[in-house]
Order: sequence, then C-alpha cells, then structure tokens
Amino acid sequence: METPRLTNRRDFLRLAALGSATAFLAAACAPAVSTTPAAAPTTAPAAAAPKPTTAPAAAAQPTTAPAAAAPGATPTPIGGGKFSAPPVTAPAEYKPATGKLEIFSWWTSGGETEALDYLYADYKVLNPQVEVINSAMTGGTASGGNMKAVLQTRMLGGDAPESFQIHLGHELIDNHVIAGRMEPLDELYASEGWNKVFPKGLIDIASYQGHPWSVPVNIHRANVLWYNKKMFSDVGVTDAPKTWDEFFVIGDKLKAKGLPLIGVAESGPGFWAHVTETILISTLGADAYRGLFTGATKWDDKRVTDALNTSAKALDYANKDFTSVSWGDINDLVVGGKVATIIQGDWTPGVLWSKGFNDFGWAPAPGNAGIYDMLSDSFGLPKGVKNRDAAVNWLKVCGSKHGQEGFNFYKGSIPARTDADFGKYTDYHKSASKDWQSNQLVPSIVHGAAAKDSFNVDYQTAINVLATKKDVAAAQSALVKAAKDADFKA
Ligand code: GAL
Repeated sequence: METPRLTNRRDFLRLAALGSATAFLAAACAPAVSTTPAAAPTTAPAAAAPKPTTAPAAAAQPTTAPAAAAPGATPTPIGGGKFSAPPVTAPAEYKPATGKLEIFSWWTSGGETEALDYLYADYKVLNPQVEVINSAMTGGTASGGNMKAVLQTRMLGGDAPESFQIHLGHELIDNHVIAGRMEPLDELYASEGWNKVFPKGLIDIASYQGHPWSVPVNIHRANVLWYNKKMFSDVGVTDAPKTWDEFFVIGDKLKAKGLPLIGVAESGPGFWAHVTETILISTLGADAYRGLFTGATKWDDKRVTDALNTSAKALDYANKDFTSVSWGDINDLVVGGKVATIIQGDWTPGVLWSKGFNDFGWAPAPGNAGIYDMLSDSFGLPKGVKNRDAAVNWLKVCGSKHGQEGFNFYKGSIPARTDADFGKYTDYHKSASKDWQSNQLVPSIVHGAAAKDSFNVDYQTAINVLATKKDVAAAQSALVKAAKDADFKA
C-alpha cells in the first residue's frame, strides 16, 4: 500500500526537480490524474496509526460564522487594503444546501480570519439557508495542534465536521485517507473543472491511489524573512541579509544595543523546526534538501551538521524568553520593536497588517534566494458527515475562482488556481507569484508537504530539543533515527 503514495511524492519531487513552478503550471493543462468515479472509495488498511497529538488545553468553542457579513463583502479592512469584487453568483443549476455546516480550522489570527470569513461570505450568498458554524481553534503544539487533536477525536468517534483545514498531501493522507475516513473527490474535480485549473503537481500531492482527496485553497511560501524596517535602519542596515553570516553581522549590531535579532516562539515544538528547515535549504541547496526525504541525502551528512550548528548559533540572537513564548505571540514582538526579524511563512503579512503595522520588509530567508519552500492548505470531505450536500457546496467555494481570489488576498498566500487575477493584489503577492513561477520548488517539512507525518513529528521534537539543549550531535542522531523510522527511499 506504500507504493502509490511514494509515487505521488516522487512525482512531486520530480516536478519540483525540474527547477521551477513552470513544471507545475505547464502541467496544469495535462489530463486529469484520475477520472475514476468516486462511487467506490479505495480500500485502505483500517489502522494507520498516526502519532498521538498533545491534547488541547481547552475545549474548542465553536462560533457561528459571521452571518452578518454582507454578500460578497469583506469584514475588516487591514493594512494590505480591502479586497473588492462583485458578489459571487451561483453557477447554472446550482443546488443550495440547507441545515448546518461545521468547519474546522486553526485560522484565528489577523488575515486568517478575514480570509476565512471571505469564503464564508461567498458560501452564505450561495447557500443562504445554511447555518455556518465556525469551529476555528487557536494554539497547541505545532501548527494547528489543538484543532488536530480535537479533529482526531471527532473523526474516530464518527462525529466529523463537514470539512476541515489540512495541509495538502501527507498530513491528510497519512492521518485520515489511509485509515479510510475520507471520500475521494474525483467527481468534484471533474465537475468543477479543477483538473484543468490546478497545477498537475498540486493534484499529484493531493492524490493517493490515483484519487484526489482534498481541495487546495492556496500556495504558501514558508521561507521568508520578515523584518522591522526601523530596527534595521536604527543600526544602519538598509538591505536584507543574503547569507547567514550577513544575518549574524546585523545580529551583533543589535546585540550591542541589547536587542534580539530573531523572534523565536518555542513554548512547544514547531517554530524553530520551521526556521531550521530554511537553514537546511540554504546549507544543502534545493536538490540535496529534497534528497533528505528520498534517501538520496543522508541525515548524517556534514551539511546537515553545518545547518544544525547554524541553527544553534542563531538562537544566541533570539529573544531570551523564547522557550516560554508561543507562536501566536511572536508577531507582537516584531510590531513592538522587541525583535528585528522573524522567519515565517507568508501568513505573516496578514497578521502584521491586521495589527495596523506596515513598516516591515521581506526577503527570502538567508541563503534561500531562488528557492520556494511551499505548502498548501486544503479542505476535504470526511465520510459520513451529517450534511454532505452542505459540505460539497463548501468544497466548491474553496476551489472557486471568486473564493480563491478574495481568500488569498487576505491570507497572504497565492491562489492554487492558475487562472486567478493578480490585478488587485499587494506587492508581496505579486513578488511571491513571480517567484513561484521562476524559483526551484521544495516542500515544507513542518507544514506537511515534504514527508510522512510521523517524520514531521519526530523532526519537530528533535529541533525543539536542540533549541533547549543546543546539543547538535544529539539532535542529528535523533534526526538520523527519525529518517530511518520513516524509511525514506529513492
Ligand atoms: C500553517 C498554515 C497556514 C497558517 C499557519 C499559521 O501551517 O498552512 O495557513 O495557518 O500555519 O501558523
């Protein structure tokens, strides 16, 4: 049962290895991955045992989605501006649903909520009778930790929400598809024309055993350095650092003034693993980084040691309290001039704008120019949901041009669809779209694109221990073991 998944990953890595997103985009016109009707879900082993996630600290508090949001309107204006579009119109023969629609996500920050609300507003226009229940949950270990834990309980208890946010590919496939808990989406992909508008490489990532299992709403870039312009100019820095050495030179200037260079939020695993992922990319380059997940590059490689040493060194330039700061609080440190930079994905501008902060710059993380560390958020269809019609209509909104254009404007990501109009987008989006089409693509580990979920958990744990103990040799041994357990093969 392993082979098809590895084939999909290999296809993605092969496409990515072609050097740029043009491979994805050109392939968008290729025939469908699979046109098998969805009637017979593929059989799969009943018990793929995902690693347990830390239990949520508090029960989720579902809220009813903003019914008040005017049709096609967007809720809160933010620094990036307001997205304006004519209200969405129903396609011919559209069948509005009734009843309730519950949606899980971990989108609770500025930018994220506006993006989600945009999709809800479209949905409400098309399905005015449906009560939308927004069960977004904040916090937890690693991205979406609380939500993933509650979701796991609900899925196992046969009480799935109508749909939920999940990273395209491994995260969904390893945790829920192999266990037989999701419906394949072949029919929807065919009826909505998605086989033509999503890049083939993305559909491959979404697929297992020849069927697509979720709908990508976006493409995020993970390897971006965000910096407080004033803090840089206060120490005479005008250009973003291109290498880790240049980064540390800036760090020394800030240190002399008692200021941290890099914001770190490591109250739980995940944040530093994300930053270290970008250090691995810079130290190994795109090809050898991709090889880490196929067995072609060994985790005991000297370049991995170098990356871990750089990772440990960078922590000397972090906020001192980083082991007690949580991911959700990190942006306030940049806004408040308490740290000069963070290395994060491009969900960051939405958060900064929502805090009324515009005085920031961006650049690829040091040593990452020309490489796009990608991930994609998606929504799928659990088997046996209470309101399947409402769920299917939700997925249609997620994959629609109208929905993706507004959603991604607020989210900071770019649409997964290749036919989106960038005319109304910000400079950041435009630069990301340009890079996506010209850079080498690599998959994010932490955000579920690179490797099986069990490896992701082990990787985040190893780097969390590195952050607290600074023992490079121990971290590398843990990673070698994690790679062995994951059984990476070319
Ligand atoms: C990522 C997710 C993004 C954003 C981010 C926030 O894993 O893909 O959409 O939510 O987490 O931490």
